[in-house]
Amino acid sequence: MATVLKNFIVFEGLDGAGTTTQMQLLAEACDKRNRACKATFEPTDKPLGRLVRSILKKQIVTTPLALAMLYAADREDHLHNPIYGLVAELEAGKMVISDRYLYSSLAYQSVECEFERVAALNDFPSPEYIFFIDTPIEECIRRINGRDAEVELFERAEFLALVKENYERIFASLDEGVNLVRLDGTLPKEEIARQVREILISE
Ligand code: TYD
Repeated sequence: MATVLKNFIVFEGLDGAGTTTQMQLLAEACDKRNRACKATFEPTDKPLGRLVRSILKKQIVTTPLALAMLYAADREDHLHNPIYGLVAELEAGKMVISDRYLYSSLAYQSVECEFERVAALNDFPSPEYIFFIDTPIEECIRRINGRDAEVELFERAEFLALVKENYERIFASLDEGVNLVRLDGTLPKEEIARQVREILISE
């Protein structure tokens, strides 16, 4: 059984589901209550994450498996980097809140790569909570198209439909000790944030 990292909280969902917003709202709630926390995201803004982002922006072309390896390398660095690694932050008593984690790799990369191969690359500890923001694909696409940015590699309805199927399969067999919470992504963002706080933070 994989190790579960206490106080490690991750948000997952399709592109446009609202994971970034909820990661930020939870971090603000922690700050307001003087609860030490670190808000973060994957792919990271560190060199390996930036390499991933340039592939998503179609500035660099590579293979799906190479991309899966880069996501995993970025994640290893995110967890264990000697300067900014998350595991050390957790050990120091912080709550760590991440916008995406290994479940994104399992769901997205296994559309184009063999699931077992992706899973083997992502043999990392589990978070204590996964908040899955369940937003209908049409709504995700509407939000993506409303953004002031170029459409990225995976931001297509047909692809996201496969990602959604993968998420459901992954969530059916999570490691023991991992709490999955599904949130209705069509609710107002403040209401979703309230539901998250109700679970994690005693008011
Ligand atoms: P994200 O930063 O959440 O999207 P945005 O740039 O819109 O804020 O994630 C970038 C993309 O990378 C998104 O399509 C999901 C995908 N992704 C994977 O395919 N595998 C992964 O392991 C992660 C972390 C993200």
